[in-house]
Amino acid sequence: MTQPLRLGIAGLGTVGAGVVKIVRQKADLLAARTGRPVKITAVSARSRDKDRGVPLTGYDWEDDPVKLAIRDDVDVFIELMGGSDGPAKAATEAALAAGKDVVTANKAMLALHGQSMAELAEDAGRVIRFEAAVAGGIPVVKALTEGLAGNTITRVMGVMNGTCNYILTRMESSGFPYDQVFEEANQLGYLEADPNLDVGGIDAGHKLSLLASIAYGTQVDFENVELEGIQRLSIEDIRTAADMGYRIKLLGVAQMTGRGLEQRMSPCLVPADSPLGQLQGGTNMVVLEGDEVGQIVLRGAGAGAGPTASAVMSDVIEIARGTRLTTFGQPARGLKQAQPARTVTPAPYYLRMLLSDKPGAMGKIASVLGEAGISIDRMRQTRHDSTSAPVVIVTHKTSRDSLDTALEAFSNTGVLLGAPVAIRIEEV
Ligand code: NAP
Ligand code: HSE
Repeated sequence: MTQPLRLGIAGLGTVGAGVVKIVRQKADLLAARTGRPVKITAVSARSRDKDRGVPLTGYDWEDDPVKLAIRDDVDVFIELMGGSDGPAKAATEAALAAGKDVVTANKAMLALHGQSMAELAEDAGRVIRFEAAVAGGIPVVKALTEGLAGNTITRVMGVMNGTCNYILTRMESSGFPYDQVFEEANQLGYLEADPNLDVGGIDAGHKLSLLASIAYGTQVDFENVELEGIQRLSIEDIRTAADMGYRIKLLGVAQMTGRGLEQRMSPCLVPADSPLGQLQGGTNMVVLEGDEVGQIVLRGAGAGAGPTASAVMSDVIEIARGTRLTTFGQPARGLKQAQPARTVTPAPYYLRMLLSDKPGAMGKIASVLGEAGISIDRMRQTRHDSTSAPVVIVTHKTSRDSLDTALEAFSNTGVLLGAPVAIRIEEV
């Protein structure tokens, strides 16, 4: 046996405790697969006294994660505290500067600081691995970095926030409104400490920006992910979409277009019978498309102790085996600055609006769409009452710019009651 690989773990919450458990319980398997013992030398968290559900005997304790990160008896610093800045960033940078490899599950930190950290790692001859940061237990970082490395990636898509997918599927199955299901998710402990990270699409946007960097050889550009959360989705839209053979998902899409890199995380309609449409509850799905391989669909648990620790351990094992991969699949200084493109890829749109029930109202709406160059595919009027007429229109493919022109012009027609709802229909 060669030298053991010595781990220092900062953060002993859901994921950290899961990692400790695997290292303790699977020592023989890890040694057999890597050819060397993998052991924990020191750990850190805020409270020394908290019961973590796993024994911590035999490990040194550090109150300060930075001190843990630079210990002589740590080869790999495992950052599982979370937070884009603060102790996570300080300790990660200290670890790299001290010549340690880093494994992290922290998508927020890498989405904001991934480029500078990748450069720091490269300069120090160290690696940063982050399989657990995107879609929990699904090995999508490795799939893109290694398995699909011979492809030009044409599109990356995914449902990468389990909480949002839980809320949306639960709204459909129960018929309960958003606020009620949000509260249920809260009671079940699904929501991040700041729920807007989940329902505002920010957490999933972080993940998408990391995948886009690997897929397109561009610097992580979270700032230019177009973000729209699920907070304004109504049970009515979920039901109407279902009636028309669609489901609404918080869907991330990244693709390189003639005008630049398009990255968006927003509610989209997808066919109910597609793999994405079939995705239920807190599960994640990532769809990767390459010019040689075609479409790959990866599905699995996006969160939880076991799945996330499984992903962390895959990085630890990679390092223990001596595999040295660049952070985003190519040397950090070779990553191009992304040219951001706001949604340019045309798509059909679902439009729902309430019209005042008077002669010519529908005609005015149809004229506005026609003037914006938007063709109607399907249209229907539902649950009509004496003063208002709810209308649903599905357009043919159109650009977001044309749609925005039409939405603005709707307000001058004098027939609209309230703001229209517009949701992209993604071809999957
Ligand atoms: P968590 O349960 O809240 O645990 C965080 C841990 O970090 C706790 O042990 C906490 O200590 C420790 N910590 C916080 N601030 C610290 C500080 N200043 N110094 C030392 N320790 C500190 O979080 P988690 O769910 O395990 O998530 C960890 C990371 O994994 C995050 O980046 C998260 O986004 C990512 N992730 C989580 C999941 C998941 O399913 N949970 C999935 C994918 C990715 P105390 O316990 O003493 O308070
Ligand atoms: N809040 C995240 C989710 C946790 O719901 O998917 C995993 O990143």
